[in-house]
Amino acid sequence: MSQETPLFLRACRGETIERPPLWLMRQAGRYMPAYKKVREKAGSFMNLCRTPEWCVEVTLQPIERFGFDASILFSDILIPAEAMGAEVEFITGKGPRINNPFRDEKDLARFGTPDPREAAPYVFETVRGLREALPEHVPLIGFVAAPWTLACYLVDGGGSKNFEHVKTLAHGRPELLQQLFDKILTYSIEHAVAQIEAGAQAFQLFDTWAELLDLPSWRKWCLEPANRFLSAVRERVGPDVPLLYFGKGSAGQLSALGEVKADVISIDWRLELAAARAALPDKVLQGNMDPLYLYAGVEPTKRRATEILQAGGGQKHVFNLGHGILPKTPHESVDALVETVRNFKA
Ligand code: CP3
Repeated sequence: MSQETPLFLRACRGETIERPPLWLMRQAGRYMPAYKKVREKAGSFMNLCRTPEWCVEVTLQPIERFGFDASILFSDILIPAEAMGAEVEFITGKGPRINNPFRDEKDLARFGTPDPREAAPYVFETVRGLREALPEHVPLIGFVAAPWTLACYLVDGGGSKNFEHVKTLAHGRPELLQQLFDKILTYSIEHAVAQIEAGAQAFQLFDTWAELLDLPSWRKWCLEPANRFLSAVRERVGPDVPLLYFGKGSAGQLSALGEVKADVISIDWRLELAAARAALPDKVLQGNMDPLYLYAGVEPTKRRATEILQAGGGQKHVFNLGHGILPKTPHESVDALVETVRNFKA
């Protein structure tokens, strides 16, 4: 691969790198005043997601302000839910709500698998706009939710303490839940392929609620569907697009995490990077700073970032937070993080 291939893509492919690349989950968002302005203009979050011009603008904001090494499409994991037939609403201060959740077989017919290019054309228009607007050294990452995480919202109807509805189905009526998963997979694979065809150069699967499950259930509802997704996308798009898997809370699944058929495994802060490295010596790892270090200020941010960089050893590592950047993050902390990663010498 030539030196002109962007650092982030080289890192994902496990090639030798000068330093780990850096991007942040949720890098476009409310910690940026420029985002809040566009968000206000849009009125609702869904309206923002449906307007390519604004999505391009807010995707570029963190690249221009902080100089991250990769960019992530501005959209949401619940856009596919809406395209499949869910009535999605975002309630300020509370998060997403689905007004017609999936609870039993009579609900199956309500959820369809339309062509994403027709059901959510604005997503792919945003991708095309971004590929024109982004500098060549900053690759664009596309994303969808993993089936389990999307099912958590579709079944429980929003954020939830115990996600009791989806877990009750998983443990008690697996054949019914499987039918919903099959639909989610059909839609998500096509939504992913369409993003990559439109220009996304890497792809991340978000399994935010993987942490809810015991190991046998995780194998059935996270590992197996994620691998079905990853294999299908790989077959459709060829070998060149790195596939990343983020499972929150994967410390509990460390013994099986290497079975995920992704090029890059993203971990949160509850699993030490060194422990993940020891268990998965061949994988590129992404992560894993607790986003709250950035609230604590410049010094704690630099100190923890340096520990993580050292644990990563400078190779086969993409620097990220262990989950999304939070709304009250001071910009000095982000600047300190960028500086620490850029100056790191393995
Ligand atoms: O990372 C990025 O910068 C790209 C955009 C992106 C958003 N959401 C924008 C967003 C991505 C990749 C997501 C993924 C997402 N969305 C996940 C998986 C990763 C994670 O963070 O766990 C989940 C679970 C969601 C669902 C979701 N969307 C929730 C629970 C919420 C409300 C909570 C919150 O932080 O506000 C959202 C809304 C959302 N998605 C916002 C943004 C910038 C904030 C909405 C606003 O501006 O009012």
